[in-house]
Amino acid sequence: MDLHSENILFVDDDESLRGLVRSILTREGYSCKTATCVKEALNILKMEKFSLLISDIKMPGKSGMDLLDEVNETYKDMAVIMATGVNDRTVAVRSLHMGAFGYVTKPFDRNELIINVINALRRRKLEIESRMHNEELEALVFSRTEELRFSREETIHKLARAGEFRDNETAHHTVRMGHYCEILAQSAGQSHEFCQKLKIAAQLHDVGKIGISDTILLKPGRLTKSEFEEIKKHAEIGYRILGGSRSEVLNLGAVVALTHHEKFNGSGYPEGIQGDAIPLAGRICAVCDVFDALTSKRVYKDAMAVEEALGILKKEKNEHFDPELVDLFLKEIEKILGVKAKFVDASNIFGKGPDNFLNRNDLHEKRNSSCC
Ligand SMILES: [Fe+2]
Ligand SMILES: [Fe+2]
Repeated sequence: MDLHSENILFVDDDESLRGLVRSILTREGYSCKTATCVKEALNILKMEKFSLLISDIKMPGKSGMDLLDEVNETYKDMAVIMATGVNDRTVAVRSLHMGAFGYVTKPFDRNELIINVINALRRRKLEIESRMHNEELEALVFSRTEELRFSREETIHKLARAGEFRDNETAHHTVRMGHYCEILAQSAGQSHEFCQKLKIAAQLHDVGKIGISDTILLKPGRLTKSEFEEIKKHAEIGYRILGGSRSEVLNLGAVVALTHHEKFNGSGYPEGIQGDAIPLAGRICAVCDVFDALTSKRVYKDAMAVEEALGILKKEKNEHFDPELVDLFLKEIEKILGVKAKFVDASNIFGKGPDNFLNRNDLHEKRNSSCC
């Protein structure tokens, strides 16, 4: 142990004791300063760093116990030894429970003082090393956890992109969907945990498109009724791909994949369930998915103006959409538009071939029903 780096502060109202202790510690190679009271000690501590504080308990004004109480909170790397009269042992023992490393009794025995100082400094060194080790471990665990979380989210995003890639190669639809759904779930008062899971899971809503044949998925123009029936299967295919996982995010993705085309009035697919029977994640996804489809440009259509798209959402309250979620979506429109502006689709998508599945899906419905 490098004694020259060990700075010790001794606090006692007795001048002769201050001189004695300073002399003993200096001769042992320590650097020693003294203070006459708690107030002076606290002032010195603010200006200089000490490895060890030795404090008398009974002093005029604040006691050594008060000082111990204050330094415990502020100077976690400083060891404390209490100095006490023979009759103060009960108080001294209490000081150990309050965090003191030891106590020495007055009048001081030179050897007892030095042994206590050495032990306290050694224990302090071990505690600092142990704390640093724990902090390093915590930092390592945090960084590995972040790495895992990032790779998991990226894997899910890539899977979602695989579903979109065939008919929507350069669009940021999946990313915007994640953010829109997170915003809407937050607005609906859902927990932080649920919102974070939905942000990832929502991106998987159309992953079932992987199971739809190119002939239908990439067919330009209008779909026949049987082709549309075929394309509707993407909801259940997505559910089968993602369901039964040990991952809560993937299971939520399965729910979203299965229910994002259900309608609040029960006219959606695949189950035709209605109202609150449709899981919240699916109801949230339905609003965000249609808004993003309407406001995105495709080969067969220009992007619809935001006001017009919002008009459709309002018109479809209680029909296609959960009315409360539409109201919340309108309330959060500034945040939604912030996401839309941040994740703009690449311009080359517009000359790139067959139209987007979701929009073609919507288009089919638009041409064949009164909805959207
Ligand atoms: Fe879909
Ligand atoms: Fe979509």
